[in-house]
Formats: sequence, C-alpha cells, structure tokens
Amino acid sequence: MSDTLFDKLKSYAGGGTYPMHMPGHKRNTSLLGNELPYGIDITEITDFDDLHNAHGVIDGIQRRLAHFYGAKKSFLLVNGSTCGIMAAVVSLCSFGDKIIAARNCHKSVYKAIELYGLTPVWLYPDTDIRTGICGAITAQSVEEAIKNDPDAKMVIVTSPTYEGIISDIRAISKVCGKYSVPLLCDMAHGAHLPLFEGYDSAFGADIEVTSLHKTLPCLTQTSCANIRSDSIDCGRFASALGMFESSSPSYVLMASADRCAELIVSKGKELAEAHMKRIESFEKSVVGMTKLRLLRCKGSDRSRIVIDCADTNICGAELFALLRDKYSIECEMASARYIAAITSICDTDEGVARFAKALCDTDAALVYRHADDIPVSERAETVLTAYNAVRGKKRFEDTDRSVGAVCGEYIWAYPPGIPIAVPGERITQNTVRLIKHMRNSGLNVISESKDKITVIDI
Ligand SMILES: Cc1ncc(COP(=O)(O)O)c(C=O)c1O
Repeated sequence: MSDTLFDKLKSYAGGGTYPMHMPGHKRNTSLLGNELPYGIDITEITDFDDLHNAHGVIDGIQRRLAHFYGAKKSFLLVNGSTCGIMAAVVSLCSFGDKIIAARNCHKSVYKAIELYGLTPVWLYPDTDIRTGICGAITAQSVEEAIKNDPDAKMVIVTSPTYEGIISDIRAISKVCGKYSVPLLCDMAHGAHLPLFEGYDSAFGADIEVTSLHKTLPCLTQTSCANIRSDSIDCGRFASALGMFESSSPSYVLMASADRCAELIVSKGKELAEAHMKRIESFEKSVVGMTKLRLLRCKGSDRSRIVIDCADTNICGAELFALLRDKYSIECEMASARYIAAITSICDTDEGVARFAKALCDTDAALVYRHADDIPVSERAETVLTAYNAVRGKKRFEDTDRSVGAVCGEYIWAYPPGIPIAVPGERITQNTVRLIKHMRNSGLNVISESKDKITVIDI
C-alpha cells in the first residue's frame, strides 16, 4: 500500500469501512455528490495519525517538508501562516514583553502583538514615494534596534513581501544570533524559493513560517513552520499552535500538502526551470512598454510580477479592473500605484504570455502622466499598547479632525493587510493623508467606518 496520505484516504474511501465518526457528511457522496471531496474527508481515526501529535503519515509529510526547506523540523499548518506566526510570537514572548518588528508586517503580527499586550519597536523599511513599495529590512537597522532595546524578546521581518522584496535574512539572522534574540521570518510569500537559484540569503531565521498555498500547488490554508535553530523550543511552539489551530485539522488539506511535498521533491527543480524560462519570456515581452513598468528590485523574487502604473492616467485599482474586465485576467492585488500578480510552477506558457500581451496592449492605450509623490508610513508614537487601546472607550471622529487623537482601530487595505493606523498610536497629519489617499484610490480599505476614524479618549 502506498504511503501518501491521499492514497490512504482513497483506499479508506473505497474500503467499505462504515464511518461512525466525524465529519457529519459521512462521506455519503451518493447523497451529496462528488463535486466536493466528501469521499476523502475524515477525522483522526485509526492509522491516520494526529497533526497535534504526529508520529505516522503526517509526521512523514513534515519530515519531507523539513528536508525540502533544510530545516531541523517542520510543522504542517492547516490554519494558514497566520496560526504559525501567532504561535511563534506566543511561544517566544511573555505577556507585556517588548519585540522588534518590521512596520510592514502582516496583520497577523499586529494581532499577536495585541493578544499578548506586547510593546512593539518598529523597524521602518525605506519606502519608495512614487509607488509606496517598502524596501528590504537591513541587518544594520536590526542591529541598531537591538542595541537600543536589548530587552526585546524577538525580531520579526517579512521576507519576501507581497511585492517580492527579499531581505538578507542570513545577515539579519547573524546579527540576531550575536545578541541571542530569536528571529521570526514571515516567509508567507516565499514557499517556492528553495526551488529557484539565487535566493540562499533568504533563509536562516530561527523560525520561518511559509504559506504553501500561496505559491506552491497546495490547497488554501496549508502552510508550514520551519524550525532552524535550538533557540526555538519545539514543544513550546507545538503547545502554542494548539491555541490557534483547529483540533480537527482537515485531512483534505493535509493530503494536498503531502502531494505538494512529493511533487516538489521529485519534479520541483524541473518545473522551476521551466517556469523561469516562462518568466524570462514574459520579461522580454513587456520590455517595450513605455508607461507601465515591470518592477525589478535587486534580489527580489522574479516569479512575483509587480506592474508599476504610477506614470499613467490610471491607478492600480483601475488597471486591476481593466485586466479583469477586458482581458479576463484576475491579478492578486492592487495598490494605488501598482498591481501584483503571483506566478508559480503551475502556470502555463499560454497564461503568462496572455498576461504579457494584455499588459502591452493596455500600455499602448494609456496616457503618460508624471507621478507626484504619495504619502508613506512615518514613525508613529505609541501611546498605549494595542491590548489596552482596543479596550478603551471608543468613538468615531471625523477623519480630518482626528489628528492628535489616539487611534482605536486598525485600518488597512486588504490585500495586503498591512495596517497604516494601529490602536494605541497617535494619529498624525500623515496618518490622515495616508488613509484618505487609500480611500480615494479605490482600494478595499478595511476600517470600522467608511469615512471616519475610531479614536479613544484617554
Ligand atoms: C506577508 C503575509 N504574512 C502572512 C500572511 C498570512 O498567511 P495565511 O493566509 O497563510 O494565513 C499573509 C497573507 O496574505 C501575508 O501576506
């Protein structure tokens, strides 16, 4: 009998065992149909291992992932990278600690900070004032932060970012190691990187969390956490995961991670080589665009396609909509001045070529308009921890009149889910400019009110 989880599930489905167990659909495909995977959706039954105490088939998946990532140990996750990030923070900190984190972190980091009453010391990456894209976090800035706040319990950096910007994690990890401060790398967007040449410096954090589902052939919500050093207590991390991850993890999701691990180990390099050729061909096809620009930063992830529309008569949201409505191409996200598209080893030559042609045709129809600068995040004053701020007495304030008040909510564009206003921070003129700019750029801005800001009176 094959030992992949999917084969075990198929064999169980066809084996005649009657399920006196969860899930309630009882794999009754004659009643429910075959469109959804009822037939192979089970719970922890004999011989199918337990994600929270893996020793069998699930442990095998984790071992294959650890081998692929060159990690000491990998934890398969079924609640996305979000649960791995939360668990990493909880396992490394005590309530009320101080941590050093990049300001362009995902909301899961902010939520962990709130949950544990942490005080963040923010690292501000350089930000391009034409596009608003954050650059890499430098090892030097991390070292300065640790020297200024030696009591910080961990450092958190996002690399690659949504836009594919990769920080020198190897160098940052060296600095963190020198001061014995553990480093968490949110590598949600970099699960595929080991398949490609030239990204060695993207690895080396004590713990990295990566979304298999974002850039590898895996079902949505599957991720993994890779432990690389002894400064992470695996038992404590596993215990923290139990707070954020379902006690009924989906075997369908785990089987997809198994399939993925099998594929990337057996054929990953070959598929990655073919994909790199596809990307090279895409790059050649769009080189003649005169208004739209393919952004390429030094060392960034070449599989991530970021198209800068700053010098045109349309904003990112309009470019995004145009590609969808006119060319039936749905991109990953739009920002005010650019769009981002995710490519992967599962793309087709035709699909990527069609995207290139749609961009070239669009470019030809656009009008050049010189970009003015846009507001970007500036250093913010933390008046209260987010934990205390969300428990404060809230009221809505007119956005323009909120300057000087203490913010009572998170405000972010989703995606990418990076907050620009955070509970407990003093609202500045710049915060207001940023919020208004985002609201006026047609982005999906998440806030408690469409046109006001929640503030708290202290
Ligand atoms: C930078 C970053 N980190 C973490 C996450 C959370 O990942 P997941 O959706 O796998 O929970 C995201 C999701 O978009 C992200 O963009």
